[in-house]
Amino acid sequence: MAESAPIDPTATDAWKALEGIATGFEPDLRGWFAADAGRAETYTFQAADLTVDLSKNLVTEEILGHLLTLAQDAGVAERYRAMISGEHINVTEDRAVLHTALRRPDGGPQTGTDLEPPAGFVVDGADIDAEVHGTLDKVFAFADKVRDGSWVGVTGKRIETVVNIGIGGSDLGPVMVYEALKPYVQAGLECRFVSNIDPSDIYEKTADLDPETTLFIVASKTFGTLETLTNARLARQWLWERLGASGAVSTDQTPEGEQSRTDAVAKHFVAVSTALDKVAAFGIDPENAFGFWDWVGGRYSVDSAIGTSVAIAIGPDGFRDFLAGFHAIDEHMRTTPLEKNVPVLMGLLNVWYTNFLKAQSHAVLPYAQYLHRFPAYLQQLTMESNGKRVRWDGSPVTTDTGEIFWGEPGTNGQHAFYQLIHQGTRLIPADFIAVANPAHPLKDETGDGHAVKPGADVHSLFLANFFAQTKALAFGKTAEEVRAEGTAENVVEARVFPGNRPTTSILAPALTPSVVGQLIALYEHIVFTEGTIWGIDSFDQWGVELGKQLALQIAPAVDGDQAALDAQDSSTKSLIARYLELRD
Ligand code: F6P
Repeated sequence: MAESAPIDPTATDAWKALEGIATGFEPDLRGWFAADAGRAETYTFQAADLTVDLSKNLVTEEILGHLLTLAQDAGVAERYRAMISGEHINVTEDRAVLHTALRRPDGGPQTGTDLEPPAGFVVDGADIDAEVHGTLDKVFAFADKVRDGSWVGVTGKRIETVVNIGIGGSDLGPVMVYEALKPYVQAGLECRFVSNIDPSDIYEKTADLDPETTLFIVASKTFGTLETLTNARLARQWLWERLGASGAVSTDQTPEGEQSRTDAVAKHFVAVSTALDKVAAFGIDPENAFGFWDWVGGRYSVDSAIGTSVAIAIGPDGFRDFLAGFHAIDEHMRTTPLEKNVPVLMGLLNVWYTNFLKAQSHAVLPYAQYLHRFPAYLQQLTMESNGKRVRWDGSPVTTDTGEIFWGEPGTNGQHAFYQLIHQGTRLIPADFIAVANPAHPLKDETGDGHAVKPGADVHSLFLANFFAQTKALAFGKTAEEVRAEGTAENVVEARVFPGNRPTTSILAPALTPSVVGQLIALYEHIVFTEGTIWGIDSFDQWGVELGKQLALQIAPAVDGDQAALDAQDSSTKSLIARYLELRD
């Protein structure tokens, strides 16, 4: 069903009221906290295992009231229901958007406010539950075989290294989750991730591997992505060369030799794709291919078969827990009133900062080293989804869209870019993420003789930074406070912290598979909320296409074809000419 025309959010009364408040807005977190002893409690919410403190945001009851009205005007709840019911809200590709169906229990709640499982969840003629759970069963059966050693390579050895070849959503999700859940990875198994078409990537990732114990997963929704297919061919070449060198496969150009190489591919390559015909054309046995569907966007696909590498690494039980985490947040999003709905509130705050306080970017700062790829993952999720200049009916957007997401784990970032967040001229809202229980509860047995006591719990020391940073950003340090420390007058201003720098603190019990799923779903629904307010299709990505087309057009010129070179503009032509001169 086609979507109705989006509202123009800027024409609403709520928007106008927010504009009025934003004009000359002077936030005062010190004052607001002093005046309201219950502020932290009022603005702290629970979503599944995530405790989310919004109190250090530049928000008052009045502002929040207007933002919530805006969400109602834009129909956030209704559009979410339309999404999870299978309506084609990805209008430019005429597709349903059903990543939420990937993680709900078979027959679990899906539509509207029904708490009873629907009799069958059929979208566009397909039984979604049957397809999702059928594929999951297949992925899990395969994962078990790799984990218990019953899946062996062509020489009979068990698999020790899984190399996922994919890019964008077929890479960022699996690698981020694998890194996040390292403590859950089965001993003796390692995953690596090849994404870049820069040959250094596959070279480095395979250089020290034993082909007899290596399994490649070619992950590509379309199975047409230049980078992935090139890397897949390079991997196949590597496998044949290395196995050929040891005599494990034949290098003969005979039907028998070819058969021996095909047999090796069958044992060392599997694929994940929506295009199973192309998988077969590449030479991967369709028996060893795991499907998914066009209603799963690439950046929303880590919880589909695209997560096969993760399922192998952490096992089916871990992966089920991961899916349950997503589902818990989906249910929170579906059933919680807007005023307590964490993804909605966080999305609305982003709208407030982007459209009214003119923030350009948004930092995500995990105080969890295992989440070190989370900001990179969010960059695709948020910017490929909401970096749009037209609305879902093709009309121009009426306001700015899509913040620039970026970040690094704390405390590393503190020693790099936090200076700008604390004292720079730009407004940078930041999400701080931490877990209470570390995977490795190390103690500093000696301490430093001063601030760090012998036997100090290092995770607590780590989280002291998490708490300190949001406090410093919110409340700052006044000139009087700086002077009171005996600071020379000429450097007082340089040492003032203005404060009123907004942060959200997210605290979870531990970095379990479920919590990782919860965090991903949280941001998916934040993106959804913002996209709905802006009236954009957050599920297409046409902006990545032109560069891909031009690369294919330019490739012959770079390869020395004079006519193709002559067809380029003068800048591109001279750059390619210079490249050819420099190239040995
Ligand atoms: O170029 C962007 C993109 O289309 C992403 O949306 C997608 O995740 C990525 O490329 C990889 O695509 P595929 O999984 O089809 O290889």
